[in-house]
Amino acid sequence: MNSQNEMKEIDELLVHTYNRFQAVLDHGDGVYLYDTEGKKYLDFAAGIAVSSLGYNNPQLKDALKEQIDKLWHVSNLYYTEPVLRAATRLTKAAKMDRVFFTNSGTEAIEGALKSARKYAYSKQNGRYEIIAMDKSFHGRSMGALSVTGTEHYREPFEPLVGGVKFAEYNNLESVKELISDKTCAVIMETLQGEGGIYPVEPEFLAGVKKLCEENDILLILDEIQCGMGRTGSMFAWQEYDIQPDIMCMAKAIGNGVPVGAFAMTEAVAQYSLAPGDHGTTYGGGPLVCAAVDKVLEIYEKDDIVAHVNAIAPYLEEKLNTLVEKYECVSTRRGKGLIQGLVVTKPVGDIVKKALGEGLLVISAGSDVIRMVPPLVIEKEHVDEMIEKLEKALQ
Ligand SMILES: Cc1ncc(COP(=O)(O)O)c(C=O)c1O
Repeated sequence: MNSQNEMKEIDELLVHTYNRFQAVLDHGDGVYLYDTEGKKYLDFAAGIAVSSLGYNNPQLKDALKEQIDKLWHVSNLYYTEPVLRAATRLTKAAKMDRVFFTNSGTEAIEGALKSARKYAYSKQNGRYEIIAMDKSFHGRSMGALSVTGTEHYREPFEPLVGGVKFAEYNNLESVKELISDKTCAVIMETLQGEGGIYPVEPEFLAGVKKLCEENDILLILDEIQCGMGRTGSMFAWQEYDIQPDIMCMAKAIGNGVPVGAFAMTEAVAQYSLAPGDHGTTYGGGPLVCAAVDKVLEIYEKDDIVAHVNAIAPYLEEKLNTLVEKYECVSTRRGKGLIQGLVVTKPVGDIVKKALGEGLLVISAGSDVIRMVPPLVIEKEHVDEMIEKLEKALQ
């Protein structure tokens, strides 16, 4: 069957929630993907900031194959060794005390929100309100949508979970105005991804943390997209002198194996979820935990964070030249290997043209070309990306 027919059939069978790009992808190797017709694509999307180690990583493949031969699933009613290895590495990397493994980022958000509400409930402090941010994205379930600050995602599904107020990201006054004796948690991304690539301002993060500390409010940081080395530190908040109370992770922690996690400090855990409060049949199973363990081992061994810091200035410099050269590119925003170019031409057209040139990039917000490549890219890949993107910009 040719790929045009395949795409048509897929569109007829699946619930129509995506306008997919015109390619049937078949396999990947390093930072390249290949479609069923043999066309090669340089991947600056990484499956939406997931495949940080690229594709076909032999160590990760071997670890997964080994675990497939041993055990895939037993449920959380039993202990397994991979969960010990994954939890040990992840709590250390995340600088958090306790972790709960989920199947996705959205579920990590759900768990984090429940953890915060349970903390307030145990303390009997009467707090239940959550302050979230405009332009934020935290997922599509009813709870995660309730804290997602983009009206068009929310509107068709209202009424959502109550008690949520929205502040302006990077505007401390707007957070202050919303805080009351009912506020239980503040949730935000440490760098807003979907909303248009907005890094957090250090003073804003420090200010919110201070407000939280003063009022016994929990700070929940969503590092699902910006975490795992992408901004140049293992988790984006670790560059600043603060500590979140609860933190959400997913995407790159499994490099494509579906796994997420929420983690908390011991001070939160003491008052938060207890047996019976939360659960998942699949989450934290031996197969995904073998992946998390190996991914984190590779991060340590290959010093992926150092590599991001070595390559990111080159990417930034090259992207800045596009801002200077093209009238339709107005600004660059980003940090490390999560970068956005604000464009004045329709972003969808540019992204489609890039695909035609053999380059995968994605959009963010209404006018941003988002680049979230595998973290293992080299300078030559940056050069190749720029060459292809220039053709798409013309
Ligand atoms: C910041 C952020 N939070 C949450 C999510 C939801 O994660 P998932 O799609 O794995 O459920 C995403 C997904 O893009 C995200 O970028």
